[in-house]
Amino acid sequence: MNTLIEKVDYKNPCNSIDVIMKGAEIINGGGLVAFPTETVYGLGANALDPSAVKKIYSAKGRPSDNPLIIHISEISELKPLVKEIPERAEILIKKFWPGALTIIFKKSELIPMEVTGGLDTVAVRFPKNEVARLFIKTCGVPVAAPSANSSGKPSPTRASHVEFDLYGKIDMIIDGGYAVHGLESTIVDLTGDVPCILRPGSVTREMLEACLGEVDVETAVNAETAPKAPGQKYQHYSPKAKLTIVKGKPDAAAGVINRLAKQSMDKNIKTGILATVQTKDMYDGCMVLVAGDRQSSDTIAANLFKMLRKFDYKGIENIYSESFEQCDLGMAIMNRLEKAAGGNIIEVSE
Ligand code: TXA
Ligand code: MG
Repeated sequence: MNTLIEKVDYKNPCNSIDVIMKGAEIINGGGLVAFPTETVYGLGANALDPSAVKKIYSAKGRPSDNPLIIHISEISELKPLVKEIPERAEILIKKFWPGALTIIFKKSELIPMEVTGGLDTVAVRFPKNEVARLFIKTCGVPVAAPSANSSGKPSPTRASHVEFDLYGKIDMIIDGGYAVHGLESTIVDLTGDVPCILRPGSVTREMLEACLGEVDVETAVNAETAPKAPGQKYQHYSPKAKLTIVKGKPDAAAGVINRLAKQSMDKNIKTGILATVQTKDMYDGCMVLVAGDRQSSDTIAANLFKMLRKFDYKGIENIYSESFEQCDLGMAIMNRLEKAAGGNIIEVSE
């Protein structure tokens, strides 16, 4: 398959209406189109067309029990998709939509089982990105879209990342520049007694608790237990390289990272270090990439997946990464980093 790649004017998407209409035509014909959102790029299909939705799973190599998020372009599009809109959802919608918050509802009859992986609930998101909204609106149908990466790989924050993973497997990529947040949306489940965060993101627990009172965070994230967000049980976000996180105070961790990196290079293994603005000069002798500034965690979130991919593109085999404080956005950053490391974590006590 030839994948069409078209740039759009992301500041004024209406200037690129021809490209958007071409994408919408593909969606309505049962095809797959990758498009930008403010979190990461999504791989869209008509959510009401089971055979189009199935194509998403095969293009990504995604397990069929891992349900998809449905994207809408206006709040009024929510009602037909869900059984009910609880009061708590109304509060969150008012505060955080459009934005990086996905809400789990009980699903309506309209939603095919292929979208929800057989669950009786559905995940819905109303993105803020103007290209995404115009695209979904022009499609005229709800758009099911997981992150537009090959299953298990770091999520795409650039059209070039989508191209690298999915070229030849999907019909079109709408290139709308980079995804400003760089991490996927927060997922909150409102179908139980207490609201529960199934995946942390830039809408933090603190922000949700300020609106709803107590909010739980799901911690069951391995294959033996059954997490409520099925996607959380799979190894995820991983570069080809082996990634090891070194946890501890930045100075002490840097000492250990330097020692491990040197040992690795002595064995002729291509080695990289994921550092921050504050620590980058503590390292030498191997490839050092800066994730961002410890003083503003949004810079780290925005760059994390891009840097993991960059190590891969440079053929790095062993990556040592610093760790980040698990509060506010740091919770989402560490959630992705720990999954990418698949359990390779070293704790430094001093
Ligand atoms: O920011 C985002 O959310 C991006 C952009 C494209 O919108 N999308 C995204 O989709 O990250 P994906 O498929 O990569 O991750 C969706 C997650 C998976 O972990 C999946 O298991 C969970 O949402 N999920 C979807 N529907 C669910 C449901 N009904 N109940 C529980 N978890 C659900
Ligand atoms: Mg994903």
